[in-house]
Amino acid sequence: MKKETQISYEYFKNNSELTDVEKELFERAKQAREKAYAPYSNFFVGCAVLLENGEIYTGNNQENAAYPSGLCAERTTLFWVAANFPDVKVKKIFVVGGPKELHEKNPPIPPCGACRQSLMEYETKQNENINLYFSSMNEEVVKVHAIKDLLPFYFDATFL
Ligand code: THU
Repeated sequence: MKKETQISYEYFKNNSELTDVEKELFERAKQAREKAYAPYSNFFVGCAVLLENGEIYTGNNQENAAYPSGLCAERTTLFWVAANFPDVKVKKIFVVGGPKELHEKNPPIPPCGACRQSLMEYETKQNENINLYFSSMNEEVVKVHAIKDLLPFYFDATFL
């Protein structure tokens, strides 16, 4: 029996279509990207997280000479947020990435598979969707309404 799944998402051609809080997150993610430690890949990623109390926290990718010891921007940021505010819900996550020297056409950079799994853990834990935005520096933005939309057949604690 053949079955299908599909996801819906929003696409914004440029920044001006975003709400004020989305614009703020975009700006904060861009600023965080500047501080990324990515000497090996030269691929700079910034992340901004909006909590339910309106506070915004940011982070970026942190690389290591022993390559797998580094961590993506999404996990660096969300792990810090979860470590410090374990009971505060996450509303939105905005990710901006690209090579340090941006080319004219850099597409929106989606989170890697490992980050999707990590983000999913917190969406499940808080029992409320997290809006995820990913973008390039040239203002195109993709908005996904929930992390689970990016991870069909996700694995979680219910299987344990
Ligand atoms: N990276 C992120 O920070 N987030 C992603 O979702 C994709 C990849 C980082 C990891 C590594 O430091 C660099 O980008 C190249 O893979």
